[in-house]
Amino acid sequence: MNPKQLAVIYHSGHGHTEHIARQVQLGAQQAGDARVELIKAESLIARPDDLQAYDGFILGSPTYLGGVSGVFKSFMDATGRLWRQQALKGRLAAGFTVSSLPAGDKQSTLQSMFTFCMQHGMLWVGNPILPEQHSGVAYEEAANRLGSWSGLMAQAGHASPADSFAPGDIKTARMFGLNFAETLRRVGQPA
Ligand SMILES: Cc1cc2nc3c(=O)[nH]c(=O)nc-3n(C[C@H](O)[C@H](O)[C@H](O)COP(=O)(O)O)c2cc1C
Repeated sequence: MNPKQLAVIYHSGHGHTEHIARQVQLGAQQAGDARVELIKAESLIARPDDLQAYDGFILGSPTYLGGVSGVFKSFMDATGRLWRQQALKGRLAAGFTVSSLPAGDKQSTLQSMFTFCMQHGMLWVGNPILPEQHSGVAYEEAANRLGSWSGLMAQAGHASPADSFAPGDIKTARMFGLNFAETLRRVGQPA
């Protein structure tokens, strides 16, 4: 059987969302049977038809002023013709966002990605991980410590991207990627 093609499509102004995108990629690769590509959203604005080569999409944007970044929105808007053709219908999709505050209106960013994917007729995959702090794991180490099921959230500090995240957020990003790839294996057949 051909490996599933999975695209992690992200924008990152200052490297933090890119760092999480790489963790998501590593997690998805752990499934062992998907080809997982990292793609900058800006590179797809001029060639949105490239999306048709993939079985599943994981979308990532920083939260800027309570929504996706302008670059990420430009990528979304470039898919209008694919929307008219419903060319991506039935493919799997998920979303993640990074911001500096614990809440920071990240939910609004995920909601925008979800609506985009629903308009394209995609199938949304969430982040089914119980917050580990409830079972005694230290908060900074805990998977899904920020308590987001509709997509992945990560909180960035102001240091360099590699030093900005709690270990729990890195762990969650890998689990999120793995869950997506496993779900793609089970149910991901384009219509
Ligand atoms: C224009 C702008 C708007 C921002 N708005 C928010 C916000 O609404 N909520 C928040 O928690 N952080 C906000 N931040 C902080 C970023 O989300 C945070 O620095 C994030 O790590 C940036 O990701 P990046 O390095 O991938 O660009 C904002 C940053 C910028 C530059």
